[in-house]
Amino acid sequence: MQISLEGKRVMITAGGAGMGRATAIAMHKLGAAVFTCDLDESGLSSLPDGITTFVCDVSDPAAVDAMFDQILPGGLDIMVNNAGIGGPTKPVEEVSNEEWQQCMSVCIDSQFYCTRRVVPVFKAQQSGVIINLVSAAGILGFPNRSPYVAAKWAVSGFTKSMAMELGPDNIRVNGIVPGNVNGDRMERVIQAHAEAEDIDPQEVRRLYAIGTSMQCYVDPEEIADMICFLSSDYGRHVSGQIVGVDGFTETLYPRT
Ligand SMILES: NC(=O)c1ccc[n+]([C@@H]2O[C@H](COP(=O)([O-])OP(=O)(O)OC[C@H]3O[C@@H](n4cnc5c(N)ncnc54)[C@H](O)[C@@H]3O)[C@@H](O)[C@H]2O)c1
Repeated sequence: MQISLEGKRVMITAGGAGMGRATAIAMHKLGAAVFTCDLDESGLSSLPDGITTFVCDVSDPAAVDAMFDQILPGGLDIMVNNAGIGGPTKPVEEVSNEEWQQCMSVCIDSQFYCTRRVVPVFKAQQSGVIINLVSAAGILGFPNRSPYVAAKWAVSGFTKSMAMELGPDNIRVNGIVPGNVNGDRMERVIQAHAEAEDIDPQEVRRLYAIGTSMQCYVDPEEIADMICFLSSDYGRHVSGQIVGVDGFTETLYPRT
């Protein structure tokens, strides 16, 4: 099996860091014409030459529209809705309106804003792939992370519904559950959890690992590999799935 994305045009949101960045680089290496965006210009500027970048806040529908007005006239084959923020780590009664809304806007509203722009193009060509970044928090419960959990369950439902709605037009829609991914964001999540519950960050790190059957953390490149597979012709009949690349997360909150 040798995956090629030659001739494909792909848009990946939040490609400045983490899994979005790893996916942009992987797809570029496989021959795709890659477009990506981020809030953070510095992350974008260090991507390889040949990747087209936009500074764009994907929670802003006008900014998303302006970006797609530039990309879509050349066509599009693959949309990776990757942007998401962790939201606050605190009991629900302490979550502010702003914290709730911000988490919703970046994690789920952005996926709606991007999806509704690419679907007419995909329908016209009778083909297309949409991949949404979910989370184990989108299939399990997670105390003290209520905005993130609500937003990611919305992503799961959006993914399943889009797969059913768009399947007759040969458009495939899948979700990815990344699990515990090594990187800056995981360090921030571990720190916030440790502070909220007044426990050692190393203990939080251990608890997250034992919540998975394989007792593991994974690398952003492993997520990128799965996105490339699902985007390629090898995934041509894979749709409506929420695929874990996570060593199988049994619980996000092991109680010791
Ligand atoms: N890291 C994990 O362990 C983990 C686990 C499960 C799910 N996820 C999900 O996977 C996806 C990618 O996570 P990650 O850890 O690679 O991300 P990350 O936190 O490393 O952030 C990646 C990029 O997103 C950008 N970004 C944030 N808000 C944005 C906005 N409004 N518009 C445009 N760009 C924005 C940031 O500037 C950053 O460069 C997210 O949807 C996340 O919720 C992550």
